Amino acid sequence: ADSVPIPEPPGLPFLGNLGEFTANPIEDIVRLSNTYGEIYRLHMGSRPVVFISTQALVNEVCDEKRFQKSLSSVLRVVREGVHDGLFTAHSDEPNWGKAHRVLTPAFGPLPIRDMFDEMHDISSQLALKLARHGPHKPIPVSDEFTKLALDTIALCSMDYRFNSYYKDKMHPFVQAMGDFLAECGRRNRRPGFAPNFLYRAANEKFYNDIAILRDTANAVVEARRKNPSDRKDLLGAMLNGVDPQTGEKLSDANITDQLITFLIAGHETTSGTLSFAFYHLLKNPSAYRKVQEEADAVLGKGPAKVEHVSKLVYIQAAIQVLRETLRLSAAIPAFSVEALEDTLIGGKYLVHKGEPITCVLAKSHLDPVVYGDDANDFKPERMLDDEFARLNREFPNCWKPFGNGKRGCIGRGFAWNEAVIAMAILFQNFNFSLDDPNYQLEIASSLTIKPKDFFMRATLRDGMT
Ligand code: HEM
Repeated sequence: ADSVPIPEPPGLPFLGNLGEFTANPIEDIVRLSNTYGEIYRLHMGSRPVVFISTQALVNEVCDEKRFQKSLSSVLRVVREGVHDGLFTAHSDEPNWGKAHRVLTPAFGPLPIRDMFDEMHDISSQLALKLARHGPHKPIPVSDEFTKLALDTIALCSMDYRFNSYYKDKMHPFVQAMGDFLAECGRRNRRPGFAPNFLYRAANEKFYNDIAILRDTANAVVEARRKNPSDRKDLLGAMLNGVDPQTGEKLSDANITDQLITFLIAGHETTSGTLSFAFYHLLKNPSAYRKVQEEADAVLGKGPAKVEHVSKLVYIQAAIQVLRETLRLSAAIPAFSVEALEDTLIGGKYLVHKGEPITCVLAKSHLDPVVYGDDANDFKPERMLDDEFARLNREFPNCWKPFGNGKRGCIGRGFAWNEAVIAMAILFQNFNFSLDDPNYQLEIASSLTIKPKDFFMRATLRDGMT
């Protein structure tokens, strides 16, 4: 078949299209999608990257027989810090298969169910803090949920307490991680010919931040080695697990890479998702009321229990809200694959073997063919179980916030339970309102996105549960 050229915005020699990028790359990518349509190619200096933004094209590249996860984009830079940890490993690297087989069971439904008390513990710490603050103090939403998510992943999977709610400052890990990811983005957009000395200070900080991440991870391992336990958590699986296929255990260096990976992947995303959920709910009073009413009906005034998040009596409204939040505000707003061979996509666009193809979820999740004319609106009703199933049947891969196939998110169930528990406890105990009723959403982005300068207020309902 004949191919149709992929639109390419005009660029400059050497720089290519790097000039298109501001401090907020995902907004730049969406802007270019709005201008150039369903597909376009940029030249990041000398490296081409294809961007696609419809369900039909995303669906095609989710075919794992023709495409695989790409590490040619920003993850190539993140790899400098976490090497062949799960997130940044090539699918055919031995350590990916090994870690995938050893760690997947630790994230199964039963282990996640067993984490209820610890998830509840951290959510209660947040609730206590909000209660102490009282109704007049603006709450920095993203910061509070970052603490929640970091403390939760560390406690549940590593039995390690950051105790973020008992400290004035964020743990140095959080700052180092944020700066590391932001720098990864800048490095990815650095022209290849730029001499290194121009970036001496940034380079030094980059490696310094990586050292902080590694030191934190090593402290977690040390703490466990000093106090051995037979907990069947993620860290236990890493230290003791044997890969059924090779009969090998994970190496010490690889364990450090995995711990950093989990601390990063396990908390940036969940905190962004919870922050956006509250943003959307506070901007959509009828959706807010539904969650409130259902939390009251399901939980009453008694303590939240594990049954409330399990399949039996779960809080449906919270689940729809989270699905719709992850559609409109996917915390990881894009992921990248590459073709195994030169191939046509959409029946007409030639993409080259190994060339990264970025699925722009921030756009494909708004595809009007799938979601209709009101695709930009926050409507949790469209995520009712039956409707959600229909959408996924008629438009496969129309909702991809957890990535694709075997490289999809290993922590999906974990994040889901954590978020539902947090929402249940918060809604049971507080009435929330916007700090600034006129707040206009702004996005802060690194690898993930969060609402920027977003504050809310929390008023205790009647006595805490
Ligand atoms: C992979 C999203 C929570 C650990 C991914 C990917 C996405 C994603 C899109 C695929 C990335 C790619 O293709 O390059 C999310 C979202 C979350 C979330 C939206 C929360 C709402 C978590 C949690 C953990 C986690 C809580 C850990 C407990 C990982 C890991 C991978 C991954 C290790 C790499 C898996 C592999 O390639 O084998 N996640 N994630 N994520 N996620 Fe998550």
